[in-house]
Amino acid sequence: MIVGVQWGDEGKGKVVDLLAERADAVVRFQGGNNAGHTIIRDGETFKFHLIPSGILYPGKTCVIGNGVVIDPKVLTEEIDGLRARGVDTSGLRISANAHLIMPYHLLLDHAGETRLGKLQIGTTRRGIGPCYADKAARLGIRVQDLLDEKILKKKITAALEPKRLSLRPFAKDPSLDLHTMTEEYLTYGHRLEQYIADTTSLVWDLLDNRRTVIFEGAQGTLLDIDHGTYPFVTSSNPVSGAATVGAGVGPKDIDEVWGVAKAYVTRVGAGPFPTELDDELGEQIRQRGGEFGTTTGRARRTGWIDLVALRYAARINTLTALAITKLDVLSGFDRLHVCTSYRGEEGAEFHAFPYHQSVLHHARPQYEELPGWSEDIGEARTESDLPQAARDYLRFVSEFVGVPIVLAGVGPGREQIVWTRAGEQSLAAPAAA
Ligand code: IMP
Repeated sequence: MIVGVQWGDEGKGKVVDLLAERADAVVRFQGGNNAGHTIIRDGETFKFHLIPSGILYPGKTCVIGNGVVIDPKVLTEEIDGLRARGVDTSGLRISANAHLIMPYHLLLDHAGETRLGKLQIGTTRRGIGPCYADKAARLGIRVQDLLDEKILKKKITAALEPKRLSLRPFAKDPSLDLHTMTEEYLTYGHRLEQYIADTTSLVWDLLDNRRTVIFEGAQGTLLDIDHGTYPFVTSSNPVSGAATVGAGVGPKDIDEVWGVAKAYVTRVGAGPFPTELDDELGEQIRQRGGEFGTTTGRARRTGWIDLVALRYAARINTLTALAITKLDVLSGFDRLHVCTSYRGEEGAEFHAFPYHQSVLHHARPQYEELPGWSEDIGEARTESDLPQAARDYLRFVSEFVGVPIVLAGVGPGREQIVWTRAGEQSLAAPAAA
């Protein structure tokens, strides 16, 4: 299992891509096209929002699990785009139980943010929240409903009924016309039918036959609707436990949980961010790290690594390993700061991630300073290729969080990875089993 352990955008796609080569299947279990993974393969850039990036390996089983919310327009465009570039999509499987993002979810996401004004969450406006809300309210439209015109129409009518008031400003929007919407979604149904499957039993079969399955998380732990910085969160659970629900497996099916974290921190959208650097240094990190969203193009907020939050994420996900990405972005800074506790408004020191929203909003980071390095590390492939200060930085993070680091990313390319000894051992283990 690969999960993000900050506020998303940690570089999970690259780690999944590396492991997918050795796996039989890749499964997404939550989120939707609010996610965006960028993969650079042989100089070509691929951007994924819904389809697991493992699709770049011909014939690999790539599952969109029941816990994902699917915008079928985006999904069909993604399939078409891949096929136009010669990518074989025959390994794609879509859960019949996954919920669909409907045109009214997009409108409601926009309207909700506008209504919140200054208090807005800064959602990706992809309709994610309203879709999960309908799922919980049992008014959702699922993938399987695309295959039956009568049922589809009935369910759309039932879903629209309680929204009449909030949708009134969009009364003239053609996308809300029942007939048009039904026709459009039936067309998606025809397009997607060949991929629709009972993905839960498909994953059971793989696991029962001792195949290697990768569960690919989207977003990150601090955006989790239960355990993140509520209400500045997404509407699903990006923590590792959610894979059981969102893909239909049991906790004991998961052997390893790798958390992906950047060597620093970024956040898009609003909400508390104790180590944020709202200054020249933050801008430098943004530029060097190319910190602009894959999905929305928004500039990401940047800051020093937050080990209080990372230790919290390690516990909540029961991480067995950490993958640290973008270590190269820190090259050239004289001193590096790592946050090891917070100071509250009234002076109290917090060593654990505060559960209370007001405390977190006022938390001031307490830093330890570590020496930086000036060398370009883009060519490093083993730990011994790294400058001593970079190795010390990684060791500090690993010891503080209490989780071994398996790899460090040293550049955007697929090969720009330093596998640590722990990483090599971990890779060897499943192959030997
Ligand atoms: P939503 O998921 O579109 O509802 O957005 C809720 C919050 O999660 C906003 O702060 C978004 O910026 C953030 N968010 C959602 N998906 C991602 C992601 O993939 N990476 C980073 N932030 C995300």
